[in-house]
Amino acid sequence: MGVEVIHPASWENIRKGAEILKRGGLVAFPTETVYGLGAGVFLPQAVARIFEVKGRPRFDPLIVHVASFQDVYTLWREVSPLVEKLIETFWPGPLTVVLPKRETVPDIVTAGLPTVAVRMPAHRVALTLIREAGFPLAAPSANRFGHVSPTRAEEVAHDLGDAVELILDGGKCEMGVESTVLLVEEKRFTLLRPGAVSVEEIEKVVGKVDIRIRSSHVLAPGMLKKHYAPSVPLYLFEGNIADLWQCNFGNFVVLSPFVLPFLRESTVILSPRCDLKEVASNLFSVLRELERSSFAGIVALPVEEEGLGRAIMDRLRRASSGIAKVEENKLILIDK
Ligand code: TXA
Ligand code: MG
Repeated sequence: MGVEVIHPASWENIRKGAEILKRGGLVAFPTETVYGLGAGVFLPQAVARIFEVKGRPRFDPLIVHVASFQDVYTLWREVSPLVEKLIETFWPGPLTVVLPKRETVPDIVTAGLPTVAVRMPAHRVALTLIREAGFPLAAPSANRFGHVSPTRAEEVAHDLGDAVELILDGGKCEMGVESTVLLVEEKRFTLLRPGAVSVEEIEKVVGKVDIRIRSSHVLAPGMLKKHYAPSVPLYLFEGNIADLWQCNFGNFVVLSPFVLPFLRESTVILSPRCDLKEVASNLFSVLRELERSSFAGIVALPVEEEGLGRAIMDRLRRASSGIAKVEENKLILIDK
């Protein structure tokens, strides 16, 4: 499983990672959202290996990770005062901003798009690694394409194994859901992927954000209909939760964000504290744990679609094979 490539994110190992990156290798590293698989942004051959290792189609552009505000001038053509305000507010942190790119950014990073997505992660290990390497890192989530994003070093090793030179282990990622991706066109802001920073928070800084998620895979291919999928089929529950306890749901497990008034053995609670942040932080790792269990399927209960709940529902929908309903005390599964 390649666990021998996992090393604690000590200062010495981070420096080793930086050396690997300078030689054109790949290093997986923790961020506050999920683990990333990094390559030097100006090294097209190294970036090409990211696509190979992940099995990711070349039409899906990567996010570039920076460690200083100066770095953005090597990537973006122009930075307006409003964008400055935006990144000063949310960086370091889980907001990715998409703007027209400089010619020096290799096409392979942006999948040929004239724009480049950039963010500054709020994680000591990620920032130190970028600084030591001396250049920004192109880095997607460090999972096999289409699979659940990894929030632990072991999950990276499980998906990518020996194809990566080094996995820096920084423990479990705090947020557990990926960054919010925001497209900026002049003074117009469009949400391309809901994420760890909510639309409501962004709107406080820049005014109205267009939240129509464009489905075009060219605009945000991570928004493919089925993505983030666990190998156990997941069905999103619709209806009255109380009805669920009247029926026999066989070898299915119920995945609930919060504690429920009725509990069965086969219920997994994402946040015993009833905290949406904890739901997000545990979601992907619990899905991976359920893959290793003997359950035949997952019935996931929804959260309210506001704030961080928007990102959680987005990931649940994309992870799902369809919806689950109760009719006449029977669990009905409807594939999408
Ligand atoms: O939290 C995160 O964002 C994590 C950590 C590692 O930073 N990264 C991550 O990367 O989730 P990835 O590759 O799994 O998702 C990147 C998303 C995709 O939906 C991609 O289509 C979109 O960003 N994206 C990247 N460049 C873009 C561009 N120029 N225009 C539109 N969307 C872009
Ligand atoms: Mg991803």
